[in-house]
Amino acid sequence: MEVRVVHGDITQSAAEALVVNLFEGVTQPGGATGAVDRALGGLLSTLIAEGEIRGKKGEKALVHTFGRIPAKRVLVVGLGKREEFTLDTVRQVTGEACRFLQERGVRHAATIVHGAGVGGLPPHDAAMALTEGALLGTYTFDALKSSQEDGKRLERLDIVEAQAASIPAVERGVHLGRVLAEATALARDLVNEPANILTPTRLAQVAHTIATQHRLSLEVLERERCEALGMGAYLAVARGSHQPPKFIVLSYRGGPPDRHLGLLGKGITFDSGGISLKPAERMEEMKGDMAGGAAVLCALKAIAALGVPLTVTAIVPATENMPGGGATRPGDVVKAMNGKSIEVINTDAEGRLVLADAICYARQHLKVTHLVDVATLTGAIVTALGTLRAGLFSNNQAWADQVLKAAERAGERLWPMPLDPEYRDLIKSDVADIRNTGTGRGAGAIVGAYFIRDFVDDTPWVHLDIAGTFLSEKEKGYYVKGATGFGVRTLAHLALLMAARE
Ligand code: BES
Ligand code: ZN
Ligand code: MN
Repeated sequence: MEVRVVHGDITQSAAEALVVNLFEGVTQPGGATGAVDRALGGLLSTLIAEGEIRGKKGEKALVHTFGRIPAKRVLVVGLGKREEFTLDTVRQVTGEACRFLQERGVRHAATIVHGAGVGGLPPHDAAMALTEGALLGTYTFDALKSSQEDGKRLERLDIVEAQAASIPAVERGVHLGRVLAEATALARDLVNEPANILTPTRLAQVAHTIATQHRLSLEVLERERCEALGMGAYLAVARGSHQPPKFIVLSYRGGPPDRHLGLLGKGITFDSGGISLKPAERMEEMKGDMAGGAAVLCALKAIAALGVPLTVTAIVPATENMPGGGATRPGDVVKAMNGKSIEVINTDAEGRLVLADAICYARQHLKVTHLVDVATLTGAIVTALGTLRAGLFSNNQAWADQVLKAAERAGERLWPMPLDPEYRDLIKSDVADIRNTGTGRGAGAIVGAYFIRDFVDDTPWVHLDIAGTFLSEKEKGYYVKGATGFGVRTLAHLALLMAARE
């Protein structure tokens, strides 16, 4: 979709449809909505007075204009209660509005920067959110369908701004929003792609493409190299698969090396559970068990495209988790790169194994100073937080606060989870230094996080468990059914914050 910023009066737009907004409880609309209302001879205020349009969040009222203005249709979207209005409301309602128009065959729409007027948001931020909402809300994944049944696409969105003084800020916001949304859409594609196509080898090729596009340095460590480095935990997972593992290291040097952000993403291209085989129901969703890996690669793409003055490396230990003849067995003991021995109780707790070696590599070889890992790690986080929020675990409150601030800007909801030292008892092993699942029941997400923490030591670290948020069950706001691309925008905002030393 092409997004243009246009100076002028939206009532005069030649687009097929206009999108204007209304806060709940407003009876006399102002701004662009008021201008459209006047141009339509009070049609909108009449519908409001009749109770037909109420401005409830997510409400959509489509009105035909019968030649009174050049646009054939006006879509009034509800922004909800003014006191509950946030930047993410802009993303959500724009996503819904654009998808609504796209499904009805509209190819060219015009809108205003929702929230920048009476909403009180800075025009730059609102324009960013608007662009993200438009691009992500109309996202589709149909590359694998032989007939594009409905090739309906919203091809162009004009953002009409009446105030000339706001235009530079709006244009910068659109640019940022576009970079972030395109990176998020790529992450969605990678998660939606089936595991027979998106193998570790293919994921490494995607990293190669990103590296070429943005002049990043890429290293892909093959099995032999990982063996030589002593990555026994990562390789223990790879043993059951015919697909060769690829340990992907993608680096962007945008700033001095004394602050080096390491972004680690779980890269299991298919998680069958291994010998501790998963049940068949919804196992196909495990093609997306590399969502964390996709998020860090795509975040790095956005960070490089924006030229953020910071050094950042994305690390993705990519492999399948399969039950082949060479597979690791429950009870096997393996050794991670830092020499720690691990008793593998359950081969389905594989994410923490691959991340353990990734953390060792990031600390020992790359000397990262700050770490964030993103992983579809546990079903238990879905039990705890559902699909609305991802779990945040950390060993450093100041660093956790930075990540929370970045997530707030991205509109990606996180929730802090505990890591009291007493939880360590749950991963004590009788035969090795540590075991990969908890003893007894409960606290599954914390056990997974604690296992990872054991490899981190004092490096400021945040772990995001995105097992509940990497997929959306339905179309909602700027989400469509399938992959969400969760994490990409938070990580990009984190790099922006860190570079600005905010
Ligand atoms: N990839 C799964 C976690 C997962 C579950 C992600 C549902 C997305 C949706 C992970 O590798 C896993 O299997 N975790 C186990 C851990 C257990 C064996 C300790 C789980 O959560 O059941
Ligand atoms: Zn997994
Ligand atoms: Mn698993």
